[in-house]
Amino acid sequence: MTMLSIQGGVPLHGSVQISGAKNAALPLLVASLLTESPLNFKGIPHLRDVSTMIELLGHLGSKISLSENMELTISTPEITSHETPDELVSAMRASFLVLGPLLARCHRAKVALPGGCAIGARPVHVHLAGLEAMGASISIEQGFICATAPGGLKGVDFEIEPVSVTGTENLLMAAVLAKGVTRLRNAAKEPEVVDLADCLMQMGAKISGAGTDCIEIEGTDSLGGTVHQILPDRIEAGTYLLAGACTKGAVRVEGISPHVLTCVLEKIDQVGGLLSTGTDWVSLDMQGELPKAVDVSTGAYPSFPTDLQPQWMALNSIAQGQSKITETVFENRFMHVQELERLGAYIEVRDHTAICQGSSVLSGAKVSATDLRAGAALILAGLSASGETLIQRMDYVDRGYEHIEEKLLRLGARVKRIGV
Ligand code: EPU
Repeated sequence: MTMLSIQGGVPLHGSVQISGAKNAALPLLVASLLTESPLNFKGIPHLRDVSTMIELLGHLGSKISLSENMELTISTPEITSHETPDELVSAMRASFLVLGPLLARCHRAKVALPGGCAIGARPVHVHLAGLEAMGASISIEQGFICATAPGGLKGVDFEIEPVSVTGTENLLMAAVLAKGVTRLRNAAKEPEVVDLADCLMQMGAKISGAGTDCIEIEGTDSLGGTVHQILPDRIEAGTYLLAGACTKGAVRVEGISPHVLTCVLEKIDQVGGLLSTGTDWVSLDMQGELPKAVDVSTGAYPSFPTDLQPQWMALNSIAQGQSKITETVFENRFMHVQELERLGAYIEVRDHTAICQGSSVLSGAKVSATDLRAGAALILAGLSASGETLIQRMDYVDRGYEHIEEKLLRLGARVKRIGV
């Protein structure tokens, strides 16, 4: 089990290059199932979840090669299996994204049903209802979703309720090869959905409205290959800016458009410090001052992202003033509270709201990541705490942050990975 040792209390200073987004890369890799032609991706992040997805696609028949400059080429001339192994779906919920493309291309699929996870129950009924509306017959057998659409999928007018990111992506990928026109209403507007739609359009799909709450897709018989640059990771960028804020430092994130962080930057601006932006960078200089506590409430894009809520809680724990954090997307995403308290934070949870007392003086302790973003929050807290913080279960963090200790070291943090 790998751990991260952090000697806290050092202000972070410098620039960090933002990697390709995990939540863009995963559906984009799956999109390769929709065509026999090769897709070439630039900027694929080196992450545990990406490796899991590559393993899963290899199992379904995809051929994958990686060049020295980290360009990944993937092609699936033939789908050799339409079944996903149970262990790969339980290792990563995003594996469920293969359901729509498998049904669209080979008219059948058997995909393990993902269970709940640390941040909530996370059902998939929206994915299934959308595919059924497109003509698929779906049954659950021994923990697997068995889906068939003998005559192929058909276009449909479908309302995604509740709004779901991977639900929108699954249905979008199913619809590009369906017969006729599909309208996805109440679609997720996340930039990662737009990145997927852009890539599908480069492959020949006819899509309009991605980034709005109604996406219209006119199905085609086949799609071709393309070359695509993965969207930079807005959650990674937000995490490093907050690391700068937590340590009273000055951090610049490079390669990210401020546009995709609008709501986050509005909140960061209220924290204090000097916030500057350019076309593809953002910087925050705390000028040696402690941040001010700021209330946030999570929501679907363009609202404040739930994937930055735990990190914001680390910030509010040490910030000046009392604050409220309301989680509206997932019902159980406060697992990090207990671990932050071990470091000295004072947080009270009432239903979906966490009240942070603020002004906590954190001191290092042994803590454990309970999921990816909880792990990131503990790293931020550890960076601002006095003494040594040991973070266990770094495997969670490795699912979504590329080269995290190298990037932190470059910013002047005193971090060391223990174990492999
Ligand atoms: N929901 C349902 N029924 C469904 C689908 C979703 O009730 O059929 C509910 C969920 O339980 C949740 C809400 O709808 O309460 C939103 O969930 P959504 O489906 O949008 O989440 P997701 O697609 O499973 C993606 C990201 C998550 C991110 C969420 C919200 C990927 C691979 N994952 O998950 O990323 O938190 O959207 O933005 O894109 C992370 O990166 O740490 C992470 C968890």
